[in-house]
Amino acid sequence: MSEVVDLLKQSGYSDKAIEYYINKVNVGEIRDHSTHFTYTGSCGDTMGIFLKIDSGVIKDAKFQAIGCAGAFASGSALTEMIKGKTLEQAEGIDENDIVNHLGAIPEQKIHCARLAKATLGLAIEGYRQRRV
Ligand code: FES
Repeated sequence: MSEVVDLLKQSGYSDKAIEYYINKVNVGEIRDHSTHFTYTGSCGDTMGIFLKIDSGVIKDAKFQAIGCAGAFASGSALTEMIKGKTLEQAEGIDENDIVNHLGAIPEQKIHCARLAKATLGLAIEGYRQRRV
């Protein structure tokens, strides 16, 4: 495992990003979710986000991904960041906020944070549409 950690460090991932990736923070599904959306980004990687929402507040968030270390680190960061937030606050988080939360990810992996943000946006949009 330390070889993987060394490689990730050399690639530009922060300790926090590596910890999220190795420990698979918030990876999984929420069976009684309020909304779930799976989205495939232009890179071909796929993320699914599950949210449990109560009175407009995100009570729990998990994700699954078929993707790179950047996708997993970003998914963990975003799901950590949105717990306890309103839908509007969660929607206000962008890829730079995700990268800042992580500390650092390689420049060419910023689009992985964008994939996480886009998937969250679609999950929230789907939730709103079903409630209209
Ligand atoms: Fe596609 Fe990272 S390369 S999400």
